[in-house]
Amino acid sequence: MQKKGKFLASRDCDGSGGKEELSNYQTMLVLVIFCVLIWQASPATAPVPVQVVQSWDQNACSLVVCGPSEKGLPGRDGRDGFQGPKGEKGEQGLQGPRGIPGPPGKLGPAGPVGQEGIQGEKGPKGDAGEMGPQGIQGLKGPPGSLGPTGSKGDTGPQGERGTKGEIGLKGATGAQGPQGQTGAPGPKGNQGPVGEKGAKGDIGARGLQGATGPQGPVGKTGPPGSKGEKGSLGEKGTKGDSGLSEVNLMKRQVTALEGQLKALQASFSKYQKVAAFPGGRIVGNKVFVTSGYEGNFDDLKQRCQQAGGQLASPRNAAENTAVQEIVVQYKKSVFLGVTDIQTEGRFKYLNGEAIVYSNWNTGEPNNDKRQENCVEVYSNGKWNDKSCGERRLMLCEF
Ligand code: GLC
Ligand code: CA
Repeated sequence: MQKKGKFLASRDCDGSGGKEELSNYQTMLVLVIFCVLIWQASPATAPVPVQVVQSWDQNACSLVVCGPSEKGLPGRDGRDGFQGPKGEKGEQGLQGPRGIPGPPGKLGPAGPVGQEGIQGEKGPKGDAGEMGPQGIQGLKGPPGSLGPTGSKGDTGPQGERGTKGEIGLKGATGAQGPQGQTGAPGPKGNQGPVGEKGAKGDIGARGLQGATGPQGPVGKTGPPGSKGEKGSLGEKGTKGDSGLSEVNLMKRQVTALEGQLKALQASFSKYQKVAAFPGGRIVGNKVFVTSGYEGNFDDLKQRCQQAGGQLASPRNAAENTAVQEIVVQYKKSVFLGVTDIQTEGRFKYLNGEAIVYSNWNTGEPNNDKRQENCVEVYSNGKWNDKSCGERRLMLCEF
């Protein structure tokens, strides 16, 4: 667009460049020169003093208008003006066609590590590995359990000759041997003793009485007598080669001991009977004996102890029956080795042990008159507590 008679000059107003390089004064000077040059290039126009029409912010930009100071001739047509200002922004156009898809973007960064997955199923069993090298020898194991009994072995070789055995038991007397043969006549023996006087002969005719003669010579020894009985068994000889085993030897000894034991038992039984005769009884291993003596409890107790026994103390029915038989036989009751002297009503044996057997009569023990701490046995075998000061038959047990 053109503006006749006026020239517009401006410094660079884009905010860069001249403002920093030139002062305002210099800027104005340049613009005036610019106006003069424009005017001289126009031949038809009269000289026009330069006139500053308006000035804006000197720091941002400056505007200078060059024009005539008074009315002159019409000037020439000016040159085409500068391009006008940009028009207003038009309305938004229609949306264009969809563009071609762009190239794929760059590979994004790696995402965060995902959560741990659930455990997978157990895989199939792997193939057997190769056989490893042989290990070092292990420690010696504990001894194994006892094996079954082996079969009986063969008979072993004959053992060495054993040591001389002990002297054997005396053997039984052997049977009488047969009569031996008549031996050869023995040597002439010493003069034998005077033989017995012979039987009286018949009365002879009476001779004349001769002189007394000298003593005659000793007669011949008679023939040997018949063979005597077999002697007793000699000492046991040394052990033979056949070598009886130790076990067999022991068996023999045991058999011999058994025989001796039986003999002892029989002998002991015999002496027991002797001891129990006439005032005694044997019950198991116990022997009850009375001498017929009578006395109070303390007296009887002491006498039995001195004899190595104690007052009769039946511990069962069998023993009590034996006591009863003595009572019946002697027609006298006895005192037992049982009292409640220590504690009234608690009967004990003499060693302090509580009684394990009793055979009280009906209503007993009643501690009559509060003075009955000993025990007597009636002829029916029943027991009655009685005063210890009473006199009763002594019956000891061994
Ligand atoms: C009667 C009672 C008896 C008592 C005795 C005393 O026999 O029955 O218990 O011991 O008299 O003498
Ligand atoms: Ca009584």
